[in-house]
Amino acid sequence: MRMPTLRLLSSTVRRSLLVPATKSGSTKSANISISAPLTPQHYPQHRQLRFHHCAVSMLPRIPFTSDFFFRQLFDTESCTYTYLLADLNTKEAIIIDPVLEQAKRDAQLIHDLGFTLKYAVNTHMHADHITGSGWLKQLIPGSLSVISTASGAKADIKIKEGDKVQFGRHALESFATPGHTNGCMTYVIPEQGCVFTGDTVLIRGCGRTDFQEGNSQSLYDNVHSKIFTLPDNYRIYPAHDYKGQLESSIWEEKTYNPRLTKSLEEFVNIMENLNLPYPKKIDKSLPANRECGLYDIPKE
Ligand SMILES: [Fe+2]
Repeated sequence: MRMPTLRLLSSTVRRSLLVPATKSGSTKSANISISAPLTPQHYPQHRQLRFHHCAVSMLPRIPFTSDFFFRQLFDTESCTYTYLLADLNTKEAIIIDPVLEQAKRDAQLIHDLGFTLKYAVNTHMHADHITGSGWLKQLIPGSLSVISTASGAKADIKIKEGDKVQFGRHALESFATPGHTNGCMTYVIPEQGCVFTGDTVLIRGCGRTDFQEGNSQSLYDNVHSKIFTLPDNYRIYPAHDYKGQLESSIWEEKTYNPRLTKSLEEFVNIMENLNLPYPKKIDKSLPANRECGLYDIPKE
């Protein structure tokens, strides 16, 4: 049971298995084959404890089905992840959290792959960038924008918890997870074992709660009742990452998230004392995103 689990460990964890070759303090290291039996003298005590925890807690991830298309895209300025998902049989596609400046890139990709964009879906009304939904609607006639009713933003389709966003035989299941903003939604695809958390859960972090009707207690409660109750091996795909990490898992964030593993009281205290600067683009982004991104956008 343990050995297949070991094979799943990331290269980072594998590198942590570079251990002293001798007990004399020599800096020479030996790379332990992951198929070799591990014993306590192979690595320092703190690594031993963490590794043991990994080995018993990391479950095999659910593989994507062969008819499910997944592409993670990145905007370097806002560090936003955009996700293009499609049913490879029907070619129906959706895009989650597109960015205005990348709309042409995304439209070209959708065209190249022969997909039909049904919906441009936002996890919430963003403050740090303008959504690409509006421009994508112009570039790909027939596509519709989607956002939660609670966001207060305009869109072709307003959703609430329990609504499904269908594309081909696949669908996003919607969960209301206010806290970062009052309109934040988290989207889950159980069959593919993945969850799109927007800014509600970031990799080893979470979205700020000091504007847009943010509420740290609400974020904490929603994460613990609606996201951390998902299976441990579900992949987490957030709306941003600033350190180059692409994805996480429910188990990873339940174990290592430096904020969300704390008590509610400690979490609220952390969020109240972040002292973050006013977002650079908020004064442009919010008015534009209230209009579905259809506000002062390029006219081509
Ligand atoms: Fe946000």
